[in-house]
Amino acid sequence: MQKLHPLVKKVLFTKEEIESKTKEVTKEIEKYYSDKNMIDNSLLVLGLLKGCLPFFTNFCMNCDLTMEMEFMVVSSYKGTTMAETEPKILLDLQTDVRDRDILIVEDIIDTGATLKYVYDYLLDSGARSVKILTMLDKPSRRIADIQADWACFTIEPEFVIGYGLDYQEKIRNLPYVAICDTDKLKDWKW
Ligand code: IMP
Ligand code: MG
Repeated sequence: MQKLHPLVKKVLFTKEEIESKTKEVTKEIEKYYSDKNMIDNSLLVLGLLKGCLPFFTNFCMNCDLTMEMEFMVVSSYKGTTMAETEPKILLDLQTDVRDRDILIVEDIIDTGATLKYVYDYLLDSGARSVKILTMLDKPSRRIADIQADWACFTIEPEFVIGYGLDYQEKIRNLPYVAICDTDKLKDWKW
């Protein structure tokens, strides 16, 4: 086992646990889409950068559906642990989503503000269907009216790091999801 990062208070899910759960959920998603009549028989998988990356890759590599990959960057956190109120699109879709079946892949749903914004944007742009897959769900913090169709793990309202989740844009590369030791953040130096 790799040395734990000093900001880790407690590891919640190891790489192996995340990968095994992702496989299970992927099977459900394959079953759900296998009889849908999609354009080019192809699902449009939309990753919300940057946090989705490790989970997105893990899901896509395990999934047998024909898929196209798209990405968006939507701002939410600005290097702190507080969400901004109004999300902003920083990188938009590179393809026409009209009549497409879209699966959004997220790292975590917290207040849901970011996701709700993207969800409405996709439907307004003419998507035929929009479903949501998330690695982590923090339902107790939800403000926006949105929920995941598939969630790998439900967690308590704590600030988590690793497997795509950052603190000040760093440590997304930790191969596990951990609760952050927030007491250390006050005078934390990289
Ligand atoms: P929401 O709009 O409040 O649901 O926040 C969505 C985004 O905030 C997620 O996609 C993450 O990028 C980020 N975020 C939310 N909670 C955490 C956390 O506990 N650790 C790190 N990033 C988080
Ligand atoms: Mg995210």
